[in-house]
Amino acid sequence: MKKISIIYWSGTGNTEKMANAILEGAKIDGVDVSLLNVSEASVDDVKNSDIVVLGCPSMGAEQLEESEMEPFVQSIESEVKGKKVALFGSFGWGDEQWMRDWEERMEQNGANLVQDQGLTANNEPDEEALSKCKDLGELLIIE
Ligand SMILES: Cc1cc2nc3c(=O)[nH]c(=O)nc-3n(C[C@H](O)[C@H](O)[C@H](O)COP(=O)(O)O)c2cc1C
Repeated sequence: MKKISIIYWSGTGNTEKMANAILEGAKIDGVDVSLLNVSEASVDDVKNSDIVVLGCPSMGAEQLEESEMEPFVQSIESEVKGKKVALFGSFGWGDEQWMRDWEERMEQNGANLVQDQGLTANNEPDEEALSKCKDLGELLIIE
């Protein structure tokens, strides 16, 4: 069965709302989709998945969250070669540089990014943003 893992970090729930909407879009019989907080995710979750969906807001100064998400992303860098990966997250006042850097980093590690650009939402995702998250989930089913 096709396995999709959505692994995210969220401090105030915005990225988590995106993660839930992606999950909703990807839920269909015949696809094993799981939603994991990064604190409960392991490298094996990445190894065993056909598609890995990673979510993290822009933190620090246009960076990934440093205590859990950054170390996790480091730990999977050697596992994403040739793997389908999708990225998403919420941001506040910046210009989304964190997402461009993250995409580049994943590509440098050989990941096949499913989307042209990571899916972003400004602060709390509105209806339009949530609908894009759901669309991403549906896209993952056919990827
Ligand atoms: C410590 C901290 C650093 C942040 N740094 C940035 C930043 O560099 N650029 C930006 O656009 N937003 C920044 N933000 C805003 C968050 O990305 C934004 O609030 C986001 O919606 C949080 O998502 P979450 O609810 O999933 O935690 C920062 C927020 C915090 C708390």
